[in-house]
Amino acid sequence: MPENSVAATHAFWLAGRQATGEDTFDVTSPWDGRVVAAVSVPTEAQVEEAVAAAYAVRDEFAATPAHVRAAALDHVSRRLAERAEEIARLISAENGKPIKWARGEVGRAVSVFRLAAEEARRFNGGEGQRLDTDAGGQGRLALVRRFPKGVVLGIAPFNFPLNLCAHKVAPAIAAGAPIILKPAPATPLSGLVLGELLAETDLPAGSWSILPVPNDRMPALVQDERLPVISFTGSEKVGYAIMDSVPRKHCTLELGGNGAAVVLADWASEEDLDWAAQRIATFSNYQGGQSCISVQRVIADAAVYDRLVPRIVAAVEAQVTGDPNDDATDVGPLISEDAAKRVESWVQEAVDAGATLLTGGKRDGASYAPTVLADVPADVTISCEEVFGPVLTVQKVTGEAEAFAAVNDSKYGLQAGVFTHDLQTAFRAHRALEVGGVVIGDVPSYRADQMPYGGVKQSGVGREGVRSAMEDYTYERVLVLTGIQL
Ligand code: SIN
Repeated sequence: MPENSVAATHAFWLAGRQATGEDTFDVTSPWDGRVVAAVSVPTEAQVEEAVAAAYAVRDEFAATPAHVRAAALDHVSRRLAERAEEIARLISAENGKPIKWARGEVGRAVSVFRLAAEEARRFNGGEGQRLDTDAGGQGRLALVRRFPKGVVLGIAPFNFPLNLCAHKVAPAIAAGAPIILKPAPATPLSGLVLGELLAETDLPAGSWSILPVPNDRMPALVQDERLPVISFTGSEKVGYAIMDSVPRKHCTLELGGNGAAVVLADWASEEDLDWAAQRIATFSNYQGGQSCISVQRVIADAAVYDRLVPRIVAAVEAQVTGDPNDDATDVGPLISEDAAKRVESWVQEAVDAGATLLTGGKRDGASYAPTVLADVPADVTISCEEVFGPVLTVQKVTGEAEAFAAVNDSKYGLQAGVFTHDLQTAFRAHRALEVGGVVIGDVPSYRADQMPYGGVKQSGVGREGVRSAMEDYTYERVLVLTGIQL
């Protein structure tokens, strides 16, 4: 088999076993348009069977001993590592992600399952609280433990087709919550591979299903009262439509961002600026810019702007574009030609309104050249929305306060990076920036999978990250013990 071939994957996972429905759809490579696999679509009856099985097993699964869930999670972690190269090729084939980034994604998924196994072992030992602080509570002790809210409906996006599925599934298993996972229609294959590995474990039947349900059939699943928790990663529009349609459900939404990298006046040596330019160029273009925390906005102090911008342009031009199967490729295609056309139209709109194109600005099919824009008017689409493509804008400011105000001048608030050496500035940034995470000395595009991850404003609600998601999927229940000599 040639290096970049993948076996066709047809089945989905219904209550822990393989199944096929009546229809199939094709998964195609964004790079060359070839059909990577045909995937079977679950029928409505099969979706109902998966939901009923998850609902029926919820109490049994919540009571499963920690060692059973941890062993299953460790098994998936180990097997992902054993099959890493094959799975990286699969991610690359269905998503167009350059193989070097796909390998990194598999490595992260290995960590997510390992972290979830570790958390499963220490989660929910309970926390005691003495209640004899008033006379009425004498002899009483509260024990606070967490219990699953119920079955989780996980809805994953296309940009990290394995690891963002892992971030839905692994914490659910760790917390003892059954999960129904819906992978993205463009990239279901990596999520379905997780099913192969989960099927090798002893987890109870029904505790997990992986169903490539078409988007137009999702509203019914979203409404299903047996699925009280929805964990969604994807677009702002779809995320809020889901939340608005089920206001009484618990929704975690991980939506977009237009990540800012701030370069302050003290980040001024040759090495500082080279490093910042390199990191900015790499992380405005990784996954073709299709990451919620990729660098979209560079906000640089006037003291360093003129020395920084040419370095950024040079580093962006040095990004290797082309075939995602090639080890040397940094930037592959976007997920589809339509996505690249949208990016093209946003750049054109900015240029027509007076922006200066410093490099890039060309489309070839689904590929869009790494692009840098300066002098971008504040009211054009690319200044206001998430571009989700390999485009960054540069903006000159004077002083820290103006820089932080520029970061906050956005409807989004996911993560921000601040290049500074000053510890006090770092703490001021942490206080001032309206985002879910601030990275000092680097770009916003840093995510360790154990960190709380999520945004404020239109970037969403709730937090992912293994431990945070486990808390999100569970609620506190107090046990009050009486007649205790404390
Ligand atoms: C995302 O695009 O939201 C995920 C970023 C990541 O996991 O690195």
